Amino acid sequence: MAGAGEMARLFFALWPDSDLQAKLAAWAKRAAGKGRPMRRENIHLTLAFLGDTKAALVPDLIALARDLVFAPIRLPLDRVGYWKHNRIIWCGAEQDPAALTGLVAALRARLDAAGIAYDRKPFVSHVTLVRNALGLDAAPAWVPLIWEAVDFVLVTSARIEGRVAYQVMQRFPAAAG
Ligand code: 2AM
Repeated sequence: MAGAGEMARLFFALWPDSDLQAKLAAWAKRAAGKGRPMRRENIHLTLAFLGDTKAALVPDLIALARDLVFAPIRLPLDRVGYWKHNRIIWCGAEQDPAALTGLVAALRARLDAAGIAYDRKPFVSHVTLVRNALGLDAAPAWVPLIWEAVDFVLVTSARIEGRVAYQVMQRFPAAAG
């Protein structure tokens, strides 16, 4: 049982399988320059960022996400980009599939209905690959990939010995076929 005031740093995400994570991490290492490539096991796409949340709400979060019926998501990772404002190199889709934007909208609607706070900035789908990057100058050519996501996850993040460590708390599978 979570203690009364205990907080957890939470978000919902798509979590690539280890094969896709390895491909993305390998590119990130080569593209990083003086930046910090994401570690393989941390690579993900955030669907909804809740941030510090009462740990006692976790069962409610699991219940509302479990209730969601959604289709598998075929997400082309067909472009990379660099954002100056947060010095991130990322990859993502030229055009988000409706299955992805629909899942994000449904999640947000359920969080709203439950009165659970999350970051309401417009959803801009991206997979962060390098932090503290200076640009794409060092980056090798991007080879487009397809991400077949068959579930989404609830994740908690913690800082362990100065490093961010993510832990998948629960998986929510897409409806079959
Ligand atoms: P980022 O990779 O673009 O930084 C865990 O922090 C994940 O939640 C990251 O993927 C991060 O995106 C995302 N995220 C979304 N909104 C956030 C916020 N307001 N603060 C921190 N992380 C956020």
